[in-house]
Amino acid sequence: MSIAEKFAAMEYGPAPEDAKEALTWLDRHSRRFGHFINGAWREPFAREYVDTTDPSTGERLASVAQGSSADIDAAVQAARAAFPKWQSITPHARARYMYALARQVQKHSRRLAVLETMDNGKPIRESRDIDIPLVARHFYYHAGWAQLLPQEFPDYTACGVVGQIIPWNFPLLMLAWKIAPALATGNAVVLKPAEFTPLTALAFAEICQEVGLPAGVVNIVTGDGSTGEALVKHPDVDKIAFTGSTEVGRAIRSATAQSHIRLSLELGGKSPFIVFEDADLDSAVEGLVDGIWLNQGQVCCAGSRLLMQESIAEPLIAKIRERMITLRVGPPLDKGIDIGAIVAPVQLERIQRLVNQGVAEGATCWQPQTEMPSRGLYFPPTLLSNVHPSSMVAQQEIFGPVLAAMTFRTPSEAVELANNTAYGLAACVWSESINIALHVSAQIKAGVVWVNCTNLFDASCGFGGYRESGYGREGGREGLLEYLEPAWFKSAPSLPAAKPSPGENADSDRQTANPAPVSAEIDRTVKLYIGGKQARPDSGYSMEVRGRNGQILGEVPLGNRKDIRNTVEAAHKAAGWAKTTAHNRAQILYYMAENLSQRRDEVAHRLSAAVGEAQASAEVNSGIERIFSYAAWADKFDGAVHNPPFRNIAIAMNEPIGAVGIICPHEVPLLGFLSLVLPVVVAGNTAVVVPSETYPLITGDLYQLFDTSDLPGGVVNIVTGYSSQLLKVLAEHDDVDAIWCFTDQTSAFAAKSFSTGNLKQVFTNEGRAIDWFDVKQGEGRWFLQHATQVKNIWVPYGE
Ligand code: NAI
Repeated sequence: MSIAEKFAAMEYGPAPEDAKEALTWLDRHSRRFGHFINGAWREPFAREYVDTTDPSTGERLASVAQGSSADIDAAVQAARAAFPKWQSITPHARARYMYALARQVQKHSRRLAVLETMDNGKPIRESRDIDIPLVARHFYYHAGWAQLLPQEFPDYTACGVVGQIIPWNFPLLMLAWKIAPALATGNAVVLKPAEFTPLTALAFAEICQEVGLPAGVVNIVTGDGSTGEALVKHPDVDKIAFTGSTEVGRAIRSATAQSHIRLSLELGGKSPFIVFEDADLDSAVEGLVDGIWLNQGQVCCAGSRLLMQESIAEPLIAKIRERMITLRVGPPLDKGIDIGAIVAPVQLERIQRLVNQGVAEGATCWQPQTEMPSRGLYFPPTLLSNVHPSSMVAQQEIFGPVLAAMTFRTPSEAVELANNTAYGLAACVWSESINIALHVSAQIKAGVVWVNCTNLFDASCGFGGYRESGYGREGGREGLLEYLEPAWFKSAPSLPAAKPSPGENADSDRQTANPAPVSAEIDRTVKLYIGGKQARPDSGYSMEVRGRNGQILGEVPLGNRKDIRNTVEAAHKAAGWAKTTAHNRAQILYYMAENLSQRRDEVAHRLSAAVGEAQASAEVNSGIERIFSYAAWADKFDGAVHNPPFRNIAIAMNEPIGAVGIICPHEVPLLGFLSLVLPVVVAGNTAVVVPSETYPLITGDLYQLFDTSDLPGGVVNIVTGYSSQLLKVLAEHDDVDAIWCFTDQTSAFAAKSFSTGNLKQVFTNEGRAIDWFDVKQGEGRWFLQHATQVKNIWVPYGE
């Protein structure tokens, strides 16, 4: 045999990682862990423990506490007590603690990697080279933010006590993604790791002790879903950050709706991996190995839907099969292993069930004749082809090493297929043509798009979803904002509960109300404003609008469900607004300011009947200024270019969310409307607006303003009526992408409750008073941030 033949025939020998140090660490803790509360280990109140096992062997690694609501309560109390001091130490002191955490993670990186692999089943190559280095990087990066916080976020303050719930697929990395930004911004934390993988979180608890982190700043309570539920329902938590399934995300949205708890959700995905005919197919195949076979495919952003241009489908499938044959499945502590163990029996069963279902629905299943270990939880790399785009395996997250392949013909068909999902977490685009790659990236509805690369992460680049993949970002500047609140907002007083308008509970209009003095300008009847046209309401009813003195000022249509439906449709038809240039949007706003300025006196005069002369005049003057402000912002609220430590740049784009439903404040009819609608539309969204219920007649002045300022029809639509009723219809509507509600607390809570179905983003005043005349409160970045979602497009750059 020649040397070349020997080289080609060479087999891998086993190269097991030494688990001794990790096992010694477990033994040092007698393989039994309580909770980490207030800087110390605590027995669980109920004295209940459960085993955590190694999925590659089935062997018990340790027993961990099963947290009860009493344990959660103790942890929340510890965090609450620690919060004021932690928030008020100097930024430099906080940065030093975080730097120490990063250093300590690095010092114990091998032990942590081995522990992670034993508890989760992922190949040691991944935990050693991906997970743990990224954990350290995350703490370093956020140590920097702790230092810079007062300069860079001068008007913000921490949320307070933060409850964090993480999954089992990247246990320590998800902990870092949650804890690092929370601590950097001065919050105290109660974290619940996943029941299958608690060990590295407990090792991290020890690291907190080692660096002398003040007691109570980080608390770790282990347990299952019921422990998570207790945390979500605890009355003294200010924010919940969750990563996991969309189903549980929805339950958490619902459970926190009747409260002021801030929420960020990083949920599932069914991410497309698009390969164009001009792609470097060998690179794409390697990308796919990382895209779907990393961590056995148990990755929320896994490229689980392969979309191939028809002309290269056959050679690509052949190359993929060839590569799959070389993937080594086996004990994850072996350094030569590509695919390790599935985390738990329930997950293995789920993967098998979904694959069977896919085959029953007509998919062709191909698996290489890979040697499989005789014990442990393993699933071979699997390719499902002939998959129909609407079939279950193309729509549901399988969360296993299973690729579903489909074809497309044109770039626009690729985009259509890519977006044919309720999710929107990530996507990969492979093409040697920068034009095609970026053109397609811009149209994909996902929080991350990797061009000619896959599954790259960095602390400097926000990660998170569109649509039912959740909201909020982890990493980057935008990730910090998830743990900060404008300081004025946190202490803003509550608004009184809105009184139901007379007639609100009646089936018909309000004309039966007591006769009242009639104003001289009674014949003022406005219509709904839908798709740039004035429209009569479906109900055929109107409601009276009365002035401050009870006099009738006019009538507005009583909008209903059907009107909202038509309006949402009109808003979607106007989606091309997102493609207009920011300069163009600014021009339209300047024109609007000019037109309002010309009508200043008449608008103020009419408005004064509802709010008095002084406020009316102030609203018009501030309104003109506000329009100017947002015209200015239109081309200045732009994105960023990040420099992650790879051969890439990540272009962070502020993208519009879509059709936004807006419930305007009652008390400031003109300025309130402008303050909410303008940031939404300058960011490229379209709006369905319910104007102030106190003075909905403002609609007439507004649509005249829009019509004369060249605002395209459908960008702003207005439906008058009872705001609480219209809020419900808007918030439950599946084609409304976000809801902004700025009336009282009851409405804020209702907006959150009703929006659970499609997990739309919700932005409210929490029922607090906002001084709309104060530019610090009433305009600017806070609103624009809520009107946009960040998409990071990773592009190879330089060598
Ligand atoms: P899961 O969503 O049930 O678990 C994630 C975390 O939430 C765990 O810590 C769990 O204890 C906790 N939890 C469960 N129910 C809760 C509740 N009612 N309130 C508060 N916390 C609760 O995910 P699971 O069951 O482990 O996996 C099921 C499927 O979810 C997977 O097959 C996969 O499709 C998806 N998943 C997605 C993840 C992602 O990163 N997007 C991560 C994990 C799972």
